[in-house]
Amino acid sequence: MRKVRTGVLLSGSGSNLQALIDACRAPEFPAEISCVISNKETAYGLTRAEQAGIPAVFVSHKGKSREEFAAEIDDILTRYTIDMVCLAGFMRILSADFFTKWDNRMLNIHPALLPKFGGEGMYGHHVHEAVIAAGETESGASVHVVTAGCDEGPVVLQEKCPVLPEDTPDTLAARVLTIEHQLYPRALQEYVLRNSFLWKFI
Ligand code: GAR
Repeated sequence: MRKVRTGVLLSGSGSNLQALIDACRAPEFPAEISCVISNKETAYGLTRAEQAGIPAVFVSHKGKSREEFAAEIDDILTRYTIDMVCLAGFMRILSADFFTKWDNRMLNIHPALLPKFGGEGMYGHHVHEAVIAAGETESGASVHVVTAGCDEGPVVLQEKCPVLPEDTPDTLAARVLTIEHQLYPRALQEYVLRNSFLWKFI
């Protein structure tokens, strides 16, 4: 059985990438990380990829339309014969063509319990600030299939954690991130196996 070749798109630290890389080391895990692309040249996620011997590519979004930027990413995914895409802290919105091409073959992790606290502008610390401002007593993380509607695709897996009265956006983000690191590998594995018809070689 060959593994599902997965491309990870990120913009930052890449702690979720690291969780995926670590999970993929298990021989029975059905996916492998085959390239990592960042729109931020200094993203630590690129360093993590290099340290793991995974091709790491920087693609600037600056001065490009959404379509041009997404087409450039798609070319790289094609070059590395990628089957499946995982967004892991990727802070750009891709193009309609890109969503169509990767329909049902792209996952995202979001640091809240979707459908709450999702959509454009809801990313990173903005999410945790909004959760605390709304007086929520629980938050968590969601892995969902990416569709053209921002954070609107079907949820694959979700896990909850409490929001404590003394929480700041940083303490809540740290608690949610711990959940994310468990959740993303599980969700990728489940999704790949559940949709094995998408990958004829499994
Ligand atoms: C994670 O919390 C992820 O859920 C969030 O960015 C962080 C990336 O951390 N993504 C979004 O907000 C997307 N809307 P990481 O770079 O350490 O994996």
